[in-house]
Amino acid sequence: MSSTSKEGEVVCVTGGSGYIGSWLVRLLLHRGYTVHATVKDLKDEKETKHLEALEGAESRLRLFQIDLLDYDSIFAAVSGAAGVFHLASPCIVDQVTDPEKELLAPAIKGTNNVLTAAKELGVRRVVVTSSISAITPSRYWPADAVKNEDCWTDVEYCEQNGLWYPVSKTLAEKAAWEFAKEKGLDVVVVNPGTVMGPILPPTLNASMLMLLRLLQGCTDIYEDFFMGSVHVKDVALAHILVYENTSATGRHLCVEAISHYGDFAAMVAELYPKYNVPRLPKDTQPGLLRVKNASKKLMDLGFSIHSYGTNHQGFRGQFTEQWIYWYFLVALQCLAYFLVTFEPR
Ligand SMILES: NC(=O)c1ccc[n+]([C@@H]2O[C@H](COP(=O)([O-])OP(=O)(O)OC[C@H]3O[C@@H](n4cnc5c(N)ncnc54)[C@H](OP(=O)(O)O)[C@@H]3O)[C@@H](O)[C@H]2O)c1
Repeated sequence: MSSTSKEGEVVCVTGGSGYIGSWLVRLLLHRGYTVHATVKDLKDEKETKHLEALEGAESRLRLFQIDLLDYDSIFAAVSGAAGVFHLASPCIVDQVTDPEKELLAPAIKGTNNVLTAAKELGVRRVVVTSSISAITPSRYWPADAVKNEDCWTDVEYCEQNGLWYPVSKTLAEKAAWEFAKEKGLDVVVVNPGTVMGPILPPTLNASMLMLLRLLQGCTDIYEDFFMGSVHVKDVALAHILVYENTSATGRHLCVEAISHYGDFAAMVAELYPKYNVPRLPKDTQPGLLRVKNASKKLMDLGFSIHSYGTNHQGFRGQFTEQWIYWYFLVALQCLAYFLVTFEPR
């Protein structure tokens, strides 16, 4: 990626307060951009304080309160931006009681609102954060073919099985492509795997919660959700790459490797024998073909993905300290969560 300073260029990051969003805001500020970051509640310090503390934030970060269903709030945040990174979307892989309200409306209508504002305001390029959940589960994908950007989640299967997060991500991404085609807006998409790594906000997001549960002995195999993991900094860098590199087009799978959740659990168990990490079946994602260098499209743009998920030596060598850091952060988050959630009776 070129190191040209982007001084003076304004970009908007929706979901800037979130796990991936905060890393993206941090790296964009570092590259010289002026950032409009959106939060759900400007009065909630848990959403704002960690962003305000970032280097460069004092002079080049503006926070905007948005609701994905409120077009005017989005319009205000996007105004003045040359580019938009659309990350804001509910990220819930557990069961929900009202899928339409909790997941589908904010994901799909929210995407349409962001793209409409971008088009009206003459934004040059929009990067939409989709997911591997818009790629898998996909029961009609040929059994002998490696999953790639051509593969789409089977929405009917997901609806029948109450898998509302993949439905929300798939329909939101499809809505983005439809909008781009119909209205002539420049859209590129990043499809990250399960994102792991240091947490900047003082809250625990869905993917790091998976890691915490694993360390606590949870035997869930996330059969319909997992396809590989990826470091959070890589995900943020991939967003910047596809924004800045004008030859980037279409979807971009962003995983360290296509792998099974059982591989990930085995690696965590080996590294941390003192914790109660369960031994899961070898193939936790039946039929999923494993492959290294799965993010070929990103790599062809000059991107290099940190190797940690499948390379135990590399992982040990490069990330041991980071993992300890993660674990302590996660433990702290957990403690904070219990303190906030369980009031004395
Ligand atoms: N984490 C992963 O493993 C992973 C993998 C693939 C794709 N993704 C995608 O990456 C994006 C960011 O995910 P994340 O892991 O960073 O999750 P996160 O920490 O929960 O961030 C989600 C962000 O969206 C905002 N948001 C949610 N609903 C909103 C609404 N109705 N109005 C305004 N803002 C709203 C949240 O605001 P609050 O903080 O105020 O709630 C938060 O800033 C999402 O699109 C997710 O689907 C995540």
